[in-house]
Amino acid sequence: MSAESSLDPARLDKVINLAKRRGFVFPSAEIYGGFRSTYDYGPLGVLMLRNVKNAWWRSMVQLRDDVVGIDAAILSPPAVWAASGHLATFTDPLVDCKQCNERLRADQIDGQCPKCGSRDLTEARAFNLMFKTHAGPVEDDGTVAYLRPETAQGMFTNFLNVLTTTRKKPPFGIAQVGKSFRNEITPGNFVFRTREFEQMELEFFVPPAEAATWYDYWINERFRWYHDLGIDPNHIRIRHHDPEELSHYSAGTADVEFLFPWGWGELEGVANRTDYDLRAHSEASGTKLEYYDQASNERWFPHVIEPAAGATRAMMAFLLDAYHEDEVEGETRSVLRLHWRLAPYQIAVLPLSKKPELEEISQRVRRALAEHFMVDYDVTQSIGRRYRRQDEVGTPFCVTVDFDSLDDGAVTLRDRDTMEQVRISIDALVGEVLQRTYGR
Ligand code: GAP
Repeated sequence: MSAESSLDPARLDKVINLAKRRGFVFPSAEIYGGFRSTYDYGPLGVLMLRNVKNAWWRSMVQLRDDVVGIDAAILSPPAVWAASGHLATFTDPLVDCKQCNERLRADQIDGQCPKCGSRDLTEARAFNLMFKTHAGPVEDDGTVAYLRPETAQGMFTNFLNVLTTTRKKPPFGIAQVGKSFRNEITPGNFVFRTREFEQMELEFFVPPAEAATWYDYWINERFRWYHDLGIDPNHIRIRHHDPEELSHYSAGTADVEFLFPWGWGELEGVANRTDYDLRAHSEASGTKLEYYDQASNERWFPHVIEPAAGATRAMMAFLLDAYHEDEVEGETRSVLRLHWRLAPYQIAVLPLSKKPELEEISQRVRRALAEHFMVDYDVTQSIGRRYRRQDEVGTPFCVTVDFDSLDDGAVTLRDRDTMEQVRISIDALVGEVLQRTYGR
């Protein structure tokens, strides 16, 4: 696919439509008219989103011996966000249009209201993006709590816990996947920017002298991750931030960007956070978040390299990039060429008829495959229609069970991308599909 076609605005509508029609993503509370750019993940979306997160976890935790995971609380006390700097600086500039009362982000508009065209706007004021609530039945200053706007702080506040329980030493990392919340002034573009979303973050703690090397390492690793999972290399790029763009904690940030239908947009930021966070939490809490090196009898604050990705935003990019239309037997076929690790179902079992003897053998095939893969089972409609349905949701393989299967103990295995079909014995099927997936 060329860069031009990935910029086609119709592509976004087609993918949003497919996502709704086939059960990936539904507008939240739709029966009540929807709720402010929130979304629910349907039967296929929950599978795919989980696959995105699992692919990240596999690459960042499972395949490495220098990263461990945590799952920290979403609710947290103001002290955490005072120390991290979020209470003071995690703001966007908010302006109101005096004509139509639209609320706008001053840095996203050119002094003009995009709704009514007026230039009569209020002065910009800092709007804090954190969701504030109260923990417990009393709503006073002492019970204020925040929904975390990033997962990162859980890794810093648990730094010593992890250090002492795992006996890791820098360079090592702490990874976390989970929900974050930001009261975005202008959410939009489907799940690109929402107020509730999921992040996949790594805080990688390194000796200060190694920070620059690890920063480059993680930029390359993270670019490779998207590429390995099938994103067209023409549709991703690295963009280094200018000094004036840097967050309050950052000595250097580079974004992995994807070519969305409206242009380049951030998928992930890789930041050199220096020792900002560990020092800030040490000073505020009185607990020294340092590494003690027994060999040299020295204490020091590690520096932190942070690759911070959005799971829900990445899922949207994977969907957009996988969407293709091609001609099959004179008809347009829409197909999601998703990597098998990301596809909601890796394989579908399609008995040619609902006759009990075929269903019995088909269910046996399904159960054997389900030990290793997420399997769909579909007996409705013509086989051609069923193949199209599986192509449209990205299922890499289909298995057809027909009446010959009863005699020869074999089934037909079809590949989504080549549409090649091979006859294969049921006994060899699981091994063959394992070979075509994990074996590659
Ligand atoms: N700890 C650093 C941090 O949170 P960030 O660049 O603000 O950095 C990291 O967020 C990633 O989280 C972004 O690159 C994006 O993929 C995702 N993200 C941030 N805000 C989001 C939102 N409102 N909706 C969806 N994803 C979002």
